[in-house]
Amino acid sequence: MTESAKKIGGVEFRSVSRRYGKVTAVDQISFKVEPGTLVTLLGPSGCGKTTTLRMIAGLEAPSEGTILIGGRDVTLLPATDRDVTMVFQSYALFPHMNVLDNVAFGLEVSGVPKAQREAQAMQGLAMVGLAGFENRLPSELSGGQQQRVAVARALVLEPEVLLFDEPLSNLDAKLRRKMRDDIRELQSKLGLTSVYVTHDQEEALAVSDRIIVMNRAVIAQEGSPSDLYRRPVSRFVADFMGISNLLDGIVIARADGRVKVRCGEATLDLPAPTATAADDVTVAIRPQGIRLEAEAAPDRLPVTVRKATYLGSHLEYVLDSDAGELFVVDPTSERAVPPGSGAWAAFRHDGVALVPRGE
Ligand SMILES: Nc1ncnc2c1ncn2[C@@H]1O[C@H](COP(=O)(O)OP(=O)(O)O)[C@@H](O)[C@H]1O
Ligand SMILES: [Mg+2]
Repeated sequence: MTESAKKIGGVEFRSVSRRYGKVTAVDQISFKVEPGTLVTLLGPSGCGKTTTLRMIAGLEAPSEGTILIGGRDVTLLPATDRDVTMVFQSYALFPHMNVLDNVAFGLEVSGVPKAQREAQAMQGLAMVGLAGFENRLPSELSGGQQQRVAVARALVLEPEVLLFDEPLSNLDAKLRRKMRDDIRELQSKLGLTSVYVTHDQEEALAVSDRIIVMNRAVIAQEGSPSDLYRRPVSRFVADFMGISNLLDGIVIARADGRVKVRCGEATLDLPAPTATAADDVTVAIRPQGIRLEAEAAPDRLPVTVRKATYLGSHLEYVLDSDAGELFVVDPTSERAVPPGSGAWAAFRHDGVALVPRGE
């Protein structure tokens, strides 16, 4: 794992499609992964994430388009001739080999002499916090430890590009958080170009330099985690990023870099960067973008508290309004407003985005 020997190449897709008979799994997508960065493909099941990853690895050939790695056209290059390694959801460890041999396996295949590959494998295990586990069998490890072995096995190969396909989906919530932080830390420390697939928006926000949101074989939006969270361009992206309050609104005025939107009985006056050109809009409001107030105001929506739940670190409300149901997360209050109470919902401007009505 010598810094000097490391090649860092980026990945580029130019109008790449992949069809299986009548099914178009990936439809003319173009994107770039800058060298040394981690880009996440995020989207619902079946949107084309794994197919995209497998095309980077060379395990699947595009039906059309061009794929470049490190600036080189690899479209027709077989997997074995690409310097790309994939970490699978299933770990894919060899059950009869101990941890050390599992990690050293790829190096053995590449013809690295025994002493050297064992030294490198030990170093890889130390990197993922598994020094001392080298003689165990995979069955003698927890799920999280097995996943670490899979990561170490990929890291020791020092690939030009490292791919992760839903690597944490077999782990419980607490371990997922720990592992995703560890993966991110190793990736940035080693400066590895990485493409990470998940359907979990929180995981994507936590690990990525950039996120590519996919929907039905195409790219719905690409940007930094905060771009996507703060400025979704469609209802689909807003919804998928967890901005769960989606109300109908109508733009009634635009002037001086601001936009006035009618939403139920409230008229919101928002900074224009959040606005779309359309007049029929969906007002997308984060659960943390809403505050409950006791007094009316023109930019507040009258609501009735339907449900209040105390969750230790925060309160959650479900509110009814004439514009629709609202879900609110309130991390500041200690006491819940009881169900049945009337109140007013006030919106934080940085918690609101406008997207065109429709999909
Ligand atoms: N080998 C295959 N043969 C036929 N259809 C496939 C094959 N692989 C994937 N697909 C289809 O392509 C679409 C995208 O699949 P996939 O890339 O696995 O999605 P994701 O990883 O986002 O869940 C799905 O409709 C899937 O059924
Ligand atoms: Mg998949």
